[in-house]
Amino acid sequence: MIVPESITITDNRTGKSIEIPIENGGVSSAEWSKLLPGVWFHDPGLTTTAMTSSSITYLDGDEGILRYRGYPIEQLAEGSTYLEVAYLLLKGELPNQTQYADWVRDVTHHTFIHENVRKRFLEGFHYDAHPMGMLVSAVAALSTFYADAKQIFDPEIREKQIVRLIAKMPTLAAAAHRFSVGMPFVYPDNELSFPANFLSMMWKIAEPHFEADPALVHAIDVLFILHADHEQNCSTTAMRTAGSAHSDPYSSTAAACAALYGPRHGGANEAVVKMLNEIGSIENVEPFIKSVKEGHGQRLQGFGHRVYKNYDPRARIIKKVAYDVFEVTGKNPLLDIALKLEEVALSDDYFISRKLYPNVDFYSGLIYQAMGFPIEMFPVLFAIPRVSGWLAHYVELLDQDSKIVRPRQIFTGQGERKYLPMDQR
Ligand code: SDX
Repeated sequence: MIVPESITITDNRTGKSIEIPIENGGVSSAEWSKLLPGVWFHDPGLTTTAMTSSSITYLDGDEGILRYRGYPIEQLAEGSTYLEVAYLLLKGELPNQTQYADWVRDVTHHTFIHENVRKRFLEGFHYDAHPMGMLVSAVAALSTFYADAKQIFDPEIREKQIVRLIAKMPTLAAAAHRFSVGMPFVYPDNELSFPANFLSMMWKIAEPHFEADPALVHAIDVLFILHADHEQNCSTTAMRTAGSAHSDPYSSTAAACAALYGPRHGGANEAVVKMLNEIGSIENVEPFIKSVKEGHGQRLQGFGHRVYKNYDPRARIIKKVAYDVFEVTGKNPLLDIALKLEEVALSDDYFISRKLYPNVDFYSGLIYQAMGFPIEMFPVLFAIPRVSGWLAHYVELLDQDSKIVRPRQIFTGQGERKYLPMDQR
């Protein structure tokens, strides 16, 4: 007997049924609406809703698999560079030698930001402005510097905005940091690689030329690869939502940056380090885990994931990168607490039963801190490479001619009421 790849739903109020095919792991809500007009699929947080189709990134949460355009993240982290991965995400294929050289040249020659962005905009912030708040604002401001940004259906003009955004994120990030610590802005050094240039703009002081330790340059490049895309996460959904309204790439990216800023998303690595500092010692790990389990409002930051119900493959790679970095910087003393937390949590039924494992944020903050980045820079470090993934999804949604994102709601408010003048209330 052939088992049909379909579901049948019946409206018990009318006895009418409809069979809906299961295609590519999904069923069409349009078919649902044919039988049940005005009955909405209620799915807070879109936990079981496919908002779109996409060919960019594949995740298997149960198996802990992550692939960019079919290439396993482990192989890309081992053999690729962030700029090559950015090209792959955007174009769908790995570049050949010429394509890669042209791409690197294009990005390298767009690393500068308009002087007004630095002098008048970034330096207009309060002295203790959070760098992620500065980045969100600066990215949106870029849309006012490129009049052609709104021509989003001209592939050549759109590509230029994409190259500008990928190239300028490190410059904006470093500028925000330098401002927040009262250091002079460092111009991009186009003789350096993408990651090396970022570290130069972050750390150069008075020396004419700054080159970070190659091990740290490589570590940043790998971390950028690991953070470049992650399917329909919260910030990518924000990008697709803004992009579906045909907002320009800069404004849409600012929306995505704002979503990433949240502690439940890109702000988690900042929350992990604060949590480890609060725990303070290995002896306090068990009591902390106990308080998490007792639900005193604390969560084990850096643990759990909407999709991964297994070890986040990126966390495994980052854990290895950490040891390479600590070879140069010295071990982050919080590492021992993190390792103990992981050991205790992974053997505790509360976490096992909820399939809570370390995610990408659990170890990344330890590396950034060991490299000297202030904790406020951690979400900024996430945003720099994620812009490539966001833009790949932006291009994809435009190519798909996606409808504007406008979900429905389950209304739970008041019925009609008569307005009463103030003296009758
Ligand atoms: C990123 O989506 C992506 O792809 C994101 C990301 C990317 O690359 O873009 O991977 C990057 O955002 C990683 C996640 C970083 N955030 C954190 O580490 C913050 C801590 N983790 C969470 O708050 C939580 O796990 C989420 C937000 C990541 C996922 O939340 P879900 O899927 O909505 O799960 P949930 O909140 O419904 O939790 C399910 C259960 C609950 O227990 P019960 O109510 O069923 O008893 O698990 C518990 C939660 O209380 N739980 C945790 C927990 N995470 C979930 N309990 C303790 N510690 C945690 N971290």
